[in-house]
Amino acid sequence: MAEQKKKIMLTGDRPTGRLHIGHYVGSLRQRLELQDDPSYEKVFVMIADAQALTDNFDNPEKVKESVFQVALDYLSVGLDPKKTHMLIQSEVPELHELTVYYMNLVTVSRVQRNPTVKSEIKMRGFAGDSVPVGFFTYPISQASDITAFKATIVPVGEDQEPMLEQCREIVRSFNRTYNCDVLVEPEIYLPPNDACLRLPGTDGQAKMSKSLGNTIYLSDDEETLRKKVMSMFTDPGHLRVEDPGKIEGNTVFTYLDAFCKEDAFEKYLPEYKNLDELKAHYQRGGLGDVKVKKFLFEVLNEFLTPIREKRAYFEAHPEEVIAALTEGTAEARKAAGQTLAEVKHAMQIDYFERWAEEYK
Ligand code: TRP
Repeated sequence: MAEQKKKIMLTGDRPTGRLHIGHYVGSLRQRLELQDDPSYEKVFVMIADAQALTDNFDNPEKVKESVFQVALDYLSVGLDPKKTHMLIQSEVPELHELTVYYMNLVTVSRVQRNPTVKSEIKMRGFAGDSVPVGFFTYPISQASDITAFKATIVPVGEDQEPMLEQCREIVRSFNRTYNCDVLVEPEIYLPPNDACLRLPGTDGQAKMSKSLGNTIYLSDDEETLRKKVMSMFTDPGHLRVEDPGKIEGNTVFTYLDAFCKEDAFEKYLPEYKNLDELKAHYQRGGLGDVKVKKFLFEVLNEFLTPIREKRAYFEAHPEEVIAALTEGTAEARKAAGQTLAEVKHAMQIDYFERWAEEYK
């Protein structure tokens, strides 16, 4: 019988702030689905604080605060510590050890070609060769995150595909160089549609980001949500209600594509049967932005209400948050330790085990 490859999921987030609804449709939703899929043997979710420090090393306060906030985000959307091991990256030293060995297998020019690293270097304004080495090599460290758990699937946004590609190359190179099959090639798991893949900011910009002030956080209260939705970017050419409006690039409709469920119309806007009817009316003219925004507010508020309630519970029970991270990190160390032992064996640097055999 052919050996079935074990299904293992791993993904992670940089703790540089709270998570927002873009994170939800881009990755958290996929994790919730996989944690309930019985064909998955293990599910790991990592708070990648060491990676966050590669470009926030001078702001430890922010990273420390965000580690706890991201853990609260995980628990409030329904990641369940009984099913998902939640771990803190810096508490798993095996990951950093793997990185040292993988660094031998990657050239400087290969990292320089990584499009995500390229654009991030540009965005952060590092001139010439002034990129910190830690930042420059984070794709290699991310390959350690993934391979330490022998992850077969990694739910992330498409901007992470170059990281996955780099990781697969390291896997192949390692297995070839050391003539083994210790490491496993991961696959990316992308969101189901375009709206979820690239949820824009509330101002219509390509990405939600804290610095642009165009995010809706999973922890936003009702009034904050209302204000943000009511001031969202729509179709700048749609001036009067009777004017025909555009759907493409209209952020309110993009959010509806990502969040609106069938039964929302019955509850909040019974004049329409579904999203297609609403869109058609908007395109014809005669449907005002305010009405669509009020509907979107209801949709998002219904989605965020149980998340807020769970967050309030865990804020009042920090010991449960700490326990989830402690147990998740301990499980992670076991798995990563096992892989590291196999890696060292393949590289023939497991001296004491070898000598114990050889000279017994
Ligand atoms: N680079 C990822 C991001 O910016 C975060 C991350 C760190 C990650 N380690 C990972 C994602 C391992 C997937 C797997 O979102």
